[in-house]
Amino acid sequence: MNETIRPGLEGITVAETGLSRIDGENGELTVCGFPIEELAANATYEESVFLLFEGRLPTAAELADFRADLASRREICPEVRAVLRRAAAEEKPAMDALRMGVAAANLGLVDDDPATLARRLVAVVPTIVATYWRYRRGEEPIEPRDDLGHAANYLHMLTGEEPDDAAVRGLETYLSTVVDHGVNASTFTARTVVSTESDLVSAATAAVGSLKGPLHGGAPGPVLEMLREVHELGDPAGYVEAKLAAGERLMGFGHRVYRVRDPRAAVLESAAERLYAESADGDFFETVREFESVAVEELAAHSPDRRLDTNVEFYTAALLDGVGVPKELFTATFAVSRVAGWMAHCLEQLEDNRLIRPESRYVGATDREWTPAAER
Ligand code: ACO
Repeated sequence: MNETIRPGLEGITVAETGLSRIDGENGELTVCGFPIEELAANATYEESVFLLFEGRLPTAAELADFRADLASRREICPEVRAVLRRAAAEEKPAMDALRMGVAAANLGLVDDDPATLARRLVAVVPTIVATYWRYRRGEEPIEPRDDLGHAANYLHMLTGEEPDDAAVRGLETYLSTVVDHGVNASTFTARTVVSTESDLVSAATAAVGSLKGPLHGGAPGPVLEMLREVHELGDPAGYVEAKLAAGERLMGFGHRVYRVRDPRAAVLESAAERLYAESADGDFFETVREFESVAVEELAAHSPDRRLDTNVEFYTAALLDGVGVPKELFTATFAVSRVAGWMAHCLEQLEDNRLIRPESRYVGATDREWTPAAER
């Protein structure tokens, strides 16, 4: 038995994948062979999902069928609505509500083979998030509209309004940019669950739990709070210095794999720049950029041995705020996209499955003698 321990499994390769490739040294990401910059600039979310599921781009006819198929799977049943209403009334976080909704995503499904479940989960996550949010705001949920694409329909279900073109474009870019990213924590969780020959709903439910944490998908809400505070008070350098001096981490910076700027940061920065150029909040975006350059400089001085640069969550916060997604839903909106990556990884795992089961080294007590309860 190899007893070398790599905390956090850093540097350990656990799977072969044909889905996405990360070059952490050079800051590159490709999805099924396409640079992330090209996918983000051209793909609708549905095209990105088809690409992940089928390994190739759809023809125009296949894309139309795929869009219609996903749109036909968006509705949730009254029982799930009731759970979401209760979660909202108790002010549970959006990711708790999403976990509960996803866990019930196969209710009413007769045909629950993996491919059907994968499509159902991709289709239904936006409905769960938007329904929860409407209840949280004391409003009635908005029915999904099958004439709208995935991104536009999500915005429509959140607001009840006709989605604005610039916001839809911004969200579409976001959804394609974060759709898959190697074996990150939530994707590894999903692969581990299906490796036991469990099912895709269980895998997605566990993955939602994994994504929730601030070291993974939970960062962009705090990033936005930090940026708004700095925008209001000024002095980004003072803010960063105080945080680091207090031993706190700067949300939106650092990454397990990238040693340079996360390539998704550049894609989301450009998308946010386009959006803020047309908005009255342009000054805020100036603050965001200034904060980034100050933070990267301060982090380099603070941590000379490990390069800490901007990760995906930094510009996610600015972009989603500009799109009009409330900060309470940032992580859940990450799941709206990433559920497709989870599902594609699960299907890939099942193609050539072997139970994922690592080992541990025992360091606890030994040679103990049992004493009966009455004598302890
Ligand atoms: N701010 C300040 N210091 C940091 C930061 C940060 N954002 N990130 C890492 N460090 C420091 C750590 O304190 C540690 O220093 P030490 O060795 O003196 O204790 C060193 O850099 C290495 O950090 P690790 O935690 O070992 O790095 P790891 O690869 O485990 O963590 C992570 C990566 C979790 C992303 C980390 O950089 C972090 O906490 N960032 C802030 C939270 C965040 O932005 N999360 C979103 C990640 S992106 C995503 O998952 C989609």
